[in-house]
Amino acid sequence: MMIPMSIKVCVALMSLIACADSVHYQPTWESLDSRPLPAWYDQSKIGIFIHWGVFSVPSYGSEWFWWYWQGSKPYPNYAQFVRDNYKPDWTYADFARDFTAEFYNPDQWAEIFKASGARYVVQVTKHHEGFTSWPSKYSWNWNAGSVGPHRDLVGELATAIRKKTSLHYGVYHSLFEWFNPLYLQDKANNFKTQEFVTTKTMPELYELVNRYEPDLIWSDGPMGAPDTYWQSKEFLTWLYNDSPVKDKVVVNDRWGNNTICRHGGFLTCTDRYNPKTLQKRKFEDALTIYGSSWGFVRNAQLSGYLPVETLITAIIQTVSCGGNVLINVGPTKEGTITPIYEERLRQMGSWLKVNGDAIYGTKPWRKQNDTTNSDVWYTTRSDAPHVVYAMSLKWPKGQLVLGAPMVNSQTSVTLLGYDKPFNWTAPASVGMVIDVPSLSVNDIPCLWAWVFELRNVF
Ligand SMILES: *[C@@H]1O[C@H](CO)[C@@H](O)[C@H](O)[C@H]1NC(C)=O
Ligand SMILES: *[C@@H]1O[C@H](CO)[C@@H](O)[C@H](O)[C@H]1NC(C)=O
Ligand SMILES: *[C@@H]1O[C@H](CO)[C@@H](O)[C@H](O)[C@H]1NC(C)=O
Repeated sequence: MMIPMSIKVCVALMSLIACADSVHYQPTWESLDSRPLPAWYDQSKIGIFIHWGVFSVPSYGSEWFWWYWQGSKPYPNYAQFVRDNYKPDWTYADFARDFTAEFYNPDQWAEIFKASGARYVVQVTKHHEGFTSWPSKYSWNWNAGSVGPHRDLVGELATAIRKKTSLHYGVYHSLFEWFNPLYLQDKANNFKTQEFVTTKTMPELYELVNRYEPDLIWSDGPMGAPDTYWQSKEFLTWLYNDSPVKDKVVVNDRWGNNTICRHGGFLTCTDRYNPKTLQKRKFEDALTIYGSSWGFVRNAQLSGYLPVETLITAIIQTVSCGGNVLINVGPTKEGTITPIYEERLRQMGSWLKVNGDAIYGTKPWRKQNDTTNSDVWYTTRSDAPHVVYAMSLKWPKGQLVLGAPMVNSQTSVTLLGYDKPFNWTAPASVGMVIDVPSLSVNDIPCLWAWVFELRNVF
C-alpha cells in the first residue's frame, strides 16, 4: 500500500501542523463544517467585490437586468428601455458584443485595490446570466473568450493581483442561471434530474479551481434547490481534500437553499449582513458602494453612492462583531473603474493607513460597542490583549466618555496617527473620561472616525 504524501511529510517533520493535512473530510456538513477557516481570511478583514459581466453593457437598473426585463414578473420600464434604445428583436445575448473591455487594465485595477487597503478581491466570474468571464469550455459561445472582450478577464486579473500585490484572489460563481434550458428542465422535474449540474455548473466550477487556483469561492444563486441537487457537499469534499487550493481556500455558505447562514465556511446570511452584535461564527458583510446595484449603472445619481463615512462605519461595526467586509465596485463595459468608485476606495485606504492596527488581524473585545457611548466600537488583538481600540464614529469635542473600559494605574491612551498621550480620569459613574485637546488641522490624523488606543484596560 502506498503511503499518502501528506502522511510521509508529516512523519518526516514530526510536526502537528504538517499532520493537519492528513485530515480527510467527508461529504457531510458535520465534517465539512469542522474544517477551520484558513487564518488569512479572518486576518484580512476587508475585501473588494467586483460585479462585471454582460449586465455591465445595458448598465441600467441593476445586474438583474435580464430577469427584470424578461423574467416571470417583468418590470415594464426595462422593455421600454430596450424598445427605445436598441434595434427591434434585440435579445439579451446581443448585448455581449458590446462588452468591449477596451480599457481593461488589470494592473491598474490591482493598484487601485491595493491602495484601498483591502486584503482580498472577489471577482464575479459568472452571474445568473450564465456568461463566463473566462473562456470556459462548458459555456459554448457565452464566454468572454468567444464573445465581447475576446479576453480571459479572470486569468488576467488573477495574474495582475498576484504579480502586483499581496492581496488574495477569489471568485464569485453563481450556481443557477435564470434562463439556462437545462436548469429550467431540472427545475420542471422538481430537481429530480441533475442535467444542468453535471454538465454545466459543476464542471465549470472545477475548471475555475483547477485553472485559476482561487483563494476564495463565493458561491451564490442556489435558489429553490437544496445542496443535494447542486452536489455541493461532494464539490467541497474534493476542494478541501484533493484540490490544488485545499490548504488556503475559503468558501461562503450559499451552497443550497438549506445551507445559507448555516453551513460552509464564513456565513453571508443576507446581502449587507451587519448584525451589530457578536456572532458565533465568522461572517461577511457584502455591501456595494452604489447603494441599489452591484453592477455599474449609467444613469446613477451622486446621492446613490455611499459616502465614505458609511463605508467606514460598516467596516468598524462589522469587524467589532467578528466579521469581514466585502465592498463592491461595478466597472463599466469598457473596463474602467469610474473615478467615484476609485475615490471611495482610495479614501478607505487613506483611513486604513492611519487606523489599520485597529482592523487587520484584530478580534472582538469583551464588548463590541460602548455601554454609554453609541458612537464607539471596540476591537482588540490576540497578539496584544492589553491593547483595546475604541473607534469613535464622531470626533469627541473636549472629552470622550466611555462606559466599558476598566482602568488601572497602568492605563494609557493615545490616538492612532497622533503621537502624544492623552490624559484621562475615572469618575465613579463611568469607565473613563479621556481629555481630548482641540487639534490643529495639521495634527488631525484622519478625516473620518478616530481610533483611540487604550492600553491596560480590561
Ligand atoms: C429547497 O428547495 C426544495 C426544492 O425546491 C424545497 O422542497 C425545499 O422546501 C426548499 N428548502 C428550503 C429550506 O427552502
Ligand atoms: C450597543 O450596546 C448596548 C449595551 O451596552 C446595546 O443596548 C445596544 O443595542 C448596542 N448596539 C448598538 C447598535 O448600539
Ligand atoms: C495633561 O495634563 C497636564 C496637567 O494638567 C497638562 O499640562 C497637559 O497639557 C495635559 N496633556 C494633554 C495632552 O491634554
